[in-house]
Amino acid sequence: MDVIKIRKDFPVLGKKIDGRNIVYLDNACATLKPRRVIEAMNDYYENYPACGGRSVHRLSTRVSIACEEARNKVQRFINAPSEKEIVFTKNTTEGLNLVARGFGLKKGDAVITTDKEHNSNLVPWHMLREKCGVAHIIAKSLPDGTFDIEDFKKRMKDGRSKIKLASIYHTSNLDGYTLPAKDIIEIAHDAGAHVLLDAAQSVPHIPVDVKRLDADFIAFSGQKMCGPSGIGILYGKEELLETLEPFTVGGDSVASTTYEKSVLLGPPHRFEGGLQNYAGIIGLGAAVDYLSALGMDSIEKHEKTLNARLARTLSEIRHVSLIGPPDPALRGGITSFNIEGVAPHDIAMILDESANIMVRSGTLCAHSWFKARKINSCVRASFYFYNLEKDADALAGCIEKIVTDFCR
Ligand SMILES: Cc1ncc(COP(=O)(O)O)c(C=O)c1O
Repeated sequence: MDVIKIRKDFPVLGKKIDGRNIVYLDNACATLKPRRVIEAMNDYYENYPACGGRSVHRLSTRVSIACEEARNKVQRFINAPSEKEIVFTKNTTEGLNLVARGFGLKKGDAVITTDKEHNSNLVPWHMLREKCGVAHIIAKSLPDGTFDIEDFKKRMKDGRSKIKLASIYHTSNLDGYTLPAKDIIEIAHDAGAHVLLDAAQSVPHIPVDVKRLDADFIAFSGQKMCGPSGIGILYGKEELLETLEPFTVGGDSVASTTYEKSVLLGPPHRFEGGLQNYAGIIGLGAAVDYLSALGMDSIEKHEKTLNARLARTLSEIRHVSLIGPPDPALRGGITSFNIEGVAPHDIAMILDESANIMVRSGTLCAHSWFKARKINSCVRASFYFYNLEKDADALAGCIEKIVTDFCR
């Protein structure tokens, strides 16, 4: 990959703050946007800012066509069998909530997650437990953060016929670990459960093939894969989407209504009530084109190279402790860490103010994991394909300096 050339596609990478370029390492939160995505959205607003799917005039028709093209691009990107299986949502959170609310879980049923879930794959299950009496089982990770497949097998066996859904992260936002999704899905299916993958951190960084995985549902977000914010995707097998109950219904989601009743459209439109985020959908389509042209294999390889380089240096700095598997090859493009005695928010602010290095700090929307391990919070650096080796080195150099200045 020609990273120097790629970087020219990202307007913000050419800008300076305090006279210096930025070192953007907060990609697990939101990635930067290439010009092609920005232009696709501007093109919509400048040239055909109408609504899709309703009016028959040419501007509206153009919107409808562009949105269905974007749906097709997403379908091909994750190798979904049909475009009917691609539902546009607001973000990953909405996709996860849509399944939580609509899957028909009831008192006596159970859902299983892991102990490393993002709040978006935890809070919906808490609510379902409180409102409907759906039990929530938590599969344990091994001490190094990797998946404990034996524990999962045992819980699936013990909960057979009760566990209806396994809702599990694919790649962890905490430590970048990607779990063996295909094996997990097979175990869950053998036990009679369906699987919802929280793919917010996998689809942007590794090749994801829903047919190969045999995933029942996957949810992910545009803003983490060079796309706009406010747009996400829920993939669901067609036969499951047929029975999934929508929670936003109204205009555009129905074939017809009388005063007494409504006839819903088939998937995906029955889940897309109301005017949609057309610019977001069109921008997402452009982002998918961009990533497809680069190749997901190359993206994954590049991130792992940078992460290995950073890990090599960080592991030699005293007072620095890493979160997750020590082998960087198991952590994709993410390195989360702490410096003994220095608050993560302070580290993040020093990095930002002294070197324009932008990282995330805090509990990464996974308070439950931190509380259970009695760790207050951490710093997370996350790479994407436009990052350079010198970005990893700049971060390591600053961490070394912070340790020298603050740790005695
Ligand atoms: C693993 C994971 N799941 C879910 C989410 C929620 O994504 P969104 O805020 O786009 O809904 C995130 C966001 O950081 C995430 O990392």
